[in-house]
Amino acid sequence: MRVAVISAEAVPYSKTGGLGDVAGALPKALKKVGVDSVLVTPCYWQTKGEHLWETAIDDLDVPWKGGIYPAKAFYSEANGSPTFLIDAPSYFHRDSIYGFREDHERFAFFNRAALTLLKRIGKAPDIVHLNDWHCGFAAAELAVVRHHDPFWRSTRTVFSIHNMAYQGVFGTEDLWKFGFGGEFERNAFLSNGAASAMKAGLSLSDTLSTVSKRYAAEIQQPENGYGLDWLVRRRAHRLVGITNGVDYEVWDPKTDPEIPAHYDIDDLSGKAECKRRLLEQFSLPVRLDRPIFASVTRLTAQKGIDLMMQAAGEIVGSGAYIISLGSGEKSYEDFWQRLRDHAPSQVGVYRGYNESLAHQIEAGADIFMMPSKFEPCGLNQMYSLRYGTVPIVRAVGGLDDTVQNFDSVNGTGNGFKFGPYRADRFVDRIFEALFAYADADVWRKIQRNGMSEDNSWENAARKYVELYRWTLD
Ligand code: ADP
Ligand code: GLC
Repeated sequence: MRVAVISAEAVPYSKTGGLGDVAGALPKALKKVGVDSVLVTPCYWQTKGEHLWETAIDDLDVPWKGGIYPAKAFYSEANGSPTFLIDAPSYFHRDSIYGFREDHERFAFFNRAALTLLKRIGKAPDIVHLNDWHCGFAAAELAVVRHHDPFWRSTRTVFSIHNMAYQGVFGTEDLWKFGFGGEFERNAFLSNGAASAMKAGLSLSDTLSTVSKRYAAEIQQPENGYGLDWLVRRRAHRLVGITNGVDYEVWDPKTDPEIPAHYDIDDLSGKAECKRRLLEQFSLPVRLDRPIFASVTRLTAQKGIDLMMQAAGEIVGSGAYIISLGSGEKSYEDFWQRLRDHAPSQVGVYRGYNESLAHQIEAGADIFMMPSKFEPCGLNQMYSLRYGTVPIVRAVGGLDDTVQNFDSVNGTGNGFKFGPYRADRFVDRIFEALFAYADADVWRKIQRNGMSEDNSWENAARKYVELYRWTLD
């Protein structure tokens, strides 16, 4: 079986969040379970110079808006599997990866370029695996071309939903420009008088997946369907939930090159050293007996920042530390800064994106907070489990599927979770965690329960292979 994975971001070439982690790791994991895969992703300005790549195609003529866009494609195996990076400077050499008025056009182009490239390199993939709204355009294109282009005749599409909240909505007048003016495609894109790339992906892909079982059910409800729950329900017989994996080559405290000391389930002494260094790095007094609560996240409403804002006073009042790494909405950034000014000996704040620091926080912290409003899968809680950093999460999406409440009677469970989106419920779990932390044996038990889990990509990759087979059937 030959699979082409198409994604707007992929580690180590580019990343703004979990999609990058997933798209970088899945092809490598597919290879390990015997599937021949190729990854196609844009070459951003941010990608350049950072990784080894070579020019593979310097005349990738992409049919675009009635003419030809002269693009290039670079080749790399920096993520451990064959990757093509589409180079189109006017679309991708910019000071950020997303956030432009014409993002829909940038990714519509990327999709056209990716399909042009796959055809150019010769062998048709059996499966084109599309990710999030950025790839809805390719779903529409393949649904049409496979009826008249023999190259694509046997190719089938899988569309993975990583986040229903982002749908790539734009004015329908652009559909003509991108080549989707026909009634069939137009209807697939049409959503509340506008065009939605997510809707096209959901409508026209052969099968659908999302990144946890619980989220697969949640997006069929209005609260998490963002206006498309009816469509997900209609196509539910073709939808599966597959929980993301963790790339333990990147995220394992035993080998992680980003952290100051290594450790594993049998010997956690290195974790204390990581904690010491983390406190020093944030110029906080080194009191190893006090727990560090941490957050590493995009600062958006999705992540439950307002619950953290309401709970922060209780955490500081208990004498614990809080360390936050993140950037995003200004009001949230300002909140963390104010908290730091209020309790400078207990609070450490880094505003921005810092890959290396994310690893150091996972290793040095004691408790990881993810009180998300919604969370399709979530990766940081799984990284935390491996790093012996106990997660406190809200029971939604992938957080609910991967974190089990600690049960002091049976000694089972790997963290703490709460249901209703309420600060008092979150605070209850914070105090429960503080109690558990005060008893070293209990805490060690919770840490070991998490560290012994296997959330590796190989398991998830096997499930994707089953999904691909089912799609081909
Ligand atoms: P989402 O994709 O919704 O942002 P995930 O939990 O799936 O959430 O993945 C987030 C990924 O992005 C993790 O690998 C996390 O470490 C990383 N990340 C988020 N914010 C930052 C930041 N400010 N600096 C470094 N890494 C970050
Ligand atoms: C999205 C979701 C996150 C998920 C990630 C990778 O960004 O918000 O929950 O882990 O995609 O699938």
